[in-house]
Order: sequence, then C-alpha cells, then structure tokens
Amino acid sequence: MDRIVITGGIPLHGEVEISGAKNAALPILASTILSGGECVITNLPRVVDVLTMGKLLGILGAKVQHEGNRAVIDAGTISSTQAPYDLVKTMRASVLVLGPLLARWGEATVSMPGGCAIGSRPVNLHLAGLAKMGAEVSMEHGYIRAKAKRLRGAQIYCDTPTVTGTENLMMAASLAEGTTVIENAAKEPEIVDLANFLVKRGARIVGAGTDVITIEGVRELHGSDHDVIPDRIETGTYLVAGAITRGAVTLNRCRPNHLDALLMKLREAGVELKVEQDRIHLNAASRLKGIDIRTLPYPGFPTDMQAQMVALMTAAEGTSVITETVFESRFMHVEELRRMGAEIKIEGTRAVVTGPTKLTGAPVMASDLRASAGLVLAGLAAEGTTEILRVYHLDRGYERMEEKLRGLGATIARQKEGAAQAGTR
Ligand code: EPZ
Repeated sequence: MDRIVITGGIPLHGEVEISGAKNAALPILASTILSGGECVITNLPRVVDVLTMGKLLGILGAKVQHEGNRAVIDAGTISSTQAPYDLVKTMRASVLVLGPLLARWGEATVSMPGGCAIGSRPVNLHLAGLAKMGAEVSMEHGYIRAKAKRLRGAQIYCDTPTVTGTENLMMAASLAEGTTVIENAAKEPEIVDLANFLVKRGARIVGAGTDVITIEGVRELHGSDHDVIPDRIETGTYLVAGAITRGAVTLNRCRPNHLDALLMKLREAGVELKVEQDRIHLNAASRLKGIDIRTLPYPGFPTDMQAQMVALMTAAEGTSVITETVFESRFMHVEELRRMGAEIKIEGTRAVVTGPTKLTGAPVMASDLRASAGLVLAGLAAEGTTEILRVYHLDRGYERMEEKLRGLGATIARQKEGAAQAGTR
C-alpha cells in the first residue's frame, strides 16, 4: 500500500484549481441508467470512486468511454441488473444504481453496502421510500432485491435527511407513474446538480435544494451533456491547508456559495477570506482562535469537513468543541492526531480540542477519506516528517492531492508500496 511522506512547517502559498465534485459525479453517473442515448459528463474528478462507478456501469452492460475528466455513457445496452458484492464493498455509493435500475428495468439486485469506518450507514430510508412507490423489496444473502412492474408516485417522508437516499428516490420517481413528493429531503448542492441533469433529460422536478422535492414521473428520459459542479469539500480541505500552515492561498474554479457555513466558521477562527464568483483568496497570517462547531445536514456545517477542522483547531488558541451529529463514529482521526501531540478529548459525540499545540511529525494510519485528509493537513503543519499509511482512502476522493499541494509549496511525496525504506513501520 502506498504511503505519503510530508515534511511540515512550510506556509503554503500560490493558487490551486478545484476539481469536480465526487458526490455529484457519482449520482449523475448512476442516473445515466435511466435512459438510452448518449450522456457526456465533463469535469469529473479523477478519483477512484468515479472510476469504480464507471466500472459498475460497464459491468451492468452500459457502453462507457471514460478518459480523464470526461465520460461518454450510453446505458441503452444494459443487460444486467445485478450490482456485485465485490464491487459494492469497495464503494457504498454503488447503492445509487438501485433506484435507476428499478425504475428503468423493473428490478434490481444490489449488494447491501455494509458499514464503514464512520458508522453503520443503513439504507432503510432508501428501501422504505422505494416500497412506498410500490416496489417489492427483500434482503437475501446480503443482497437487496427490488422488483416493480412500474413504480407509482408516492408521498415520502424521510425520518432524517439522507443525501444518497434523496438521490435514489428522486431518480426512481422520475420514471414512476404519477407524482412523488419527498419531504424532509436532503438539500446538498450535489442533489441540485443531479436534478439539473435529470431535468435536461426530460425529467419534471421542482424543489431540489429545498426540503420538499416534487417529481412528476414521465415515460422516458433521453441522454444529455453535463458539467459537474466543483467539489465543495475539496475546496474546504485546501482552505484549511492554507490556514493550518499560516499561508496565503487562492482557490480557482470553486463555488464559494456552497460553503457558507465553513467560510463563516473560518472567519470566526480569525482567517482572512476574500470571496469572488468562483475564487477564494485566503490569508491566515494572523493567530487562530478556538471556535465551536456542530456538524449538520446542508446548509449546516458539513460533516465531511469535521476531521479537517479538528486538525485546524489544534493550532488555534483556547478550547474548541466540535460536535458530530451526523455519523456515530467519525473521530477515527483523533487517536492519530494525538500521536502527533494534539490535545483532544472525546466526550460522546464531541471532540474537545485544546490549543495551540505544536504538532510533531509521526507515522499515522488513514482510516476513511476525510480522516485521511485531516491527517495530511496536520502533517503539513507539524514539525518534522509525517508518514501517512493506507493512502488509498485519500485516492477515493481527492484528485492528484500531492501534486496540488506541491504546487502550493508543500514538501510532500508518495512512496509506492515496497519503495519505503526498510525499518519504517
Ligand atoms: C453522503 O453519504 C456522502 N456520500 C457522504 O460523503 C456524506 O458524509 C454524507 O452524505 C452526509 O453528508 C455521497 O454523497 C456519495 P446520508 P450518505 O444518507 O448519503 C442516516 C465522503 O466523504 N441514514 O446523508 O450515505 C445515516 O446513518 C462521504 O465523500 C439512515 O439512518 O449519507 C447518517 O446518520 C462520506 N438511513 C445520516 O442518515 C438511511 O437509509 C446521513 O446519512 C440513510 C441514511
């Protein structure tokens, strides 16, 4: 397994370009299943999860040409409705093919995605919504089996706003007979991007981005082109990289208005931000102040930025309380940050950080995508060398991260497996 080696303590300076949003790309690619005809998707991030989704569409029988940031997909040739375990186990978001397969082909067999490092990750709300639309849903041998001659429009209330649940139900409802209303829908920008793509293909959807989405089913959709929105979590990650190293960085091709909560919190911590239409300039020369953060569904503070902010708060003066309300165990990064000298106490769903502490480099273990990002950020600030193991977690959601950080002046390199010097852990 590759590892990343960072020599920290260098303030980052310069410009970095933000890639397309992984969590918009995944449902948009899955939604190509809903029709035949060519879909040309651009600004795809070159990350493992997007490659995995492309592979899954190919296994289902779609024609997939995927080069770099662009994919041309024609799902008119789909010949299977089974998403196999050995692929789904590597990416939970594979569950996003469930709604489209069921709506277009009347059946779907998708392996249960299973839990992951950040929690049990149930899909009960996805299944309850599909059942309300008339699907027969059962679980057999670790697989979800769903069948429906034609889905019917329904009134669906989600107990908790679920991002991929809302996406699955919105895709399924676009071909159902009649009108579906999803209440307490998730409001993430990635859901709006998916809805915009579906509407271009003939779907009738209003309310995406609010907590009530109304979808009037149509007989069929057609192909279309789509440019994926910029990744707001990648944007936040590079903002924190500039802040934790006390640097001055400019982020290009981003969407600041998708990050209101984060920008407000960074300003509260004493970071200087200048925001333009699709650029953000950050200057973090001044001292950082400890702040309190509570993760919430969008437009609240994003849970996917929690690990990065815990890392940042180790450099801030005073005590910061970060409360994780979305997932039940999303503090895997804390143990590793402690090994770098951070002073953090976990009290139930809260991480209490006391700063500032001068972090020192250490060999640390990545556990999930965003925890790994938090460790990279800590390594950029720490004195000495940090070695991050299991960087395949990072590769799932960050395009060319070492290259982009080197472009900002970081001393960072990837060691291919087996090239590591003997004697390291
Ligand atoms: C999406 O996951 C994102 N993934 C996650 O990003 C993100 O952390 C999460 O939304 C929250 O913002 C993609 O979009 C591919 P949820 P998702 O369903 O849809 C509970 C990353 O790092 N829930 O919104 O799986 C669930 O347990 C990833 O890019 C149910 O109880 O998250 C959680 O507590 C990590 N039953 C809460 O809802 C369900 O049927 C929110 O989960 C579904 C969810």
